[in-house]
Amino acid sequence: MKKNLSQSLNKIPIIIIAIDINKQITFYNNVAKQKFLFIEEKIDINNVIRSSELNKFIEESFSNKKDSKLEFSPSNFTDLYFIGDLTFFDNDYSELIISLTDQSTLKNYEQMRTDFVANVSHELRTPLSSIVGYIETIKNSVNSSSENKLDNFVGKFLDTMEDQAWRMTRLVEDLLLLSKYESDEIQMNFEQINIINLIEGVLDNLQNKINDKNIEVKINNYLSKDDVLGNKDALIQVFINLTDNAIKYSKENSKIEIELKERLEQNINYCEIHFRDFGEGISEEHLSRLTERFYRVDKNRSRNQGGTGLGLSIVKHITNKHNGKMKIESQIDKGSTFSVALPIIN
Ligand SMILES: Nc1ncnc2c1ncn2[C@@H]1O[C@H](COP(=O)(O)OP(=O)(O)OP(=O)(O)O)[C@@H](O)[C@H]1O
Ligand SMILES: [Mg+2]
Repeated sequence: MKKNLSQSLNKIPIIIIAIDINKQITFYNNVAKQKFLFIEEKIDINNVIRSSELNKFIEESFSNKKDSKLEFSPSNFTDLYFIGDLTFFDNDYSELIISLTDQSTLKNYEQMRTDFVANVSHELRTPLSSIVGYIETIKNSVNSSSENKLDNFVGKFLDTMEDQAWRMTRLVEDLLLLSKYESDEIQMNFEQINIINLIEGVLDNLQNKINDKNIEVKINNYLSKDDVLGNKDALIQVFINLTDNAIKYSKENSKIEIELKERLEQNINYCEIHFRDFGEGISEEHLSRLTERFYRVDKNRSRNQGGTGLGLSIVKHITNKHNGKMKIESQIDKGSTFSVALPIIN
């Protein structure tokens, strides 16, 4: 690497390490030396930073001659968390620059936030269920005592209290689900799952809501194999959330289409499941934010319908845990299509 360039790189406050095609270090800057005391030129990068992910990305970068980006925590420095950029320096693709930004503090804060939410939610569960239980007991006793003159009055308040207590319960349950699926530590059991059976089960579950709005649900299955490798409970959650939204945001007497088809991308065979509604649709500016926690297009309306605004966040995290992909397409007044793509077992 040219001398004046090396001097400039020493002043940059991020870790910069250059390696050749044999993964031997050809350059490192001062920040890299401060972080990895034993770093030296001409040694293998794996001796300095141990990470199977980084190693895989390095190999892929050299073989595809393409820059790439990754996030990882080295196994020899588990308290560190990096965002890494792998960039080729010259057109001959002989030297790869690894630049690492230390995200450990941010990651720790993030972990503290998720732990806090999970703990609070967990603690709220028991008092909430006792509130719901007592409201029901009081309602039953008020209803059965005919001489109670406050019947209507008390009954109305109790109904509201019950609705709100259930809303809080749903919120707490959704927060717990979200904490579970966004955590890096959870080990999900994966099994072979027939996707059509799973979707039919979900539709049975939501049949009352479908009937209430007189919605016609059509399944178009173009798959040649309908088995995916996944976690059953998690995938049920995904399909419930997407179908529930499709129902919630559809007009009465309309239609929902669930289409299943295969798509090959980068040698991986995906099963795409599209949930298409012909409802109100979502305008462009909201689309990229829909999977954020608590993001709703119309806050009041969603709240009135009992929504927590966590449904799509949960869908996104579960899809990611399945190495799947999620896509949202929508047009105002025409309707929306929410799709998830999951790897198929071959
Ligand atoms: N099929 C759809 N058509 C139109 N808007 C939708 C659709 N699905 C989701 N949205 C919009 O995205 C927002 C977020 O959806 P999400 O499922 O996360 O929350 P929610 O439905 O409000 O509540 P819940 O967490 O109970 O599902 C919704 O509030 C709504 O504005
Ligand atoms: Mg929803």
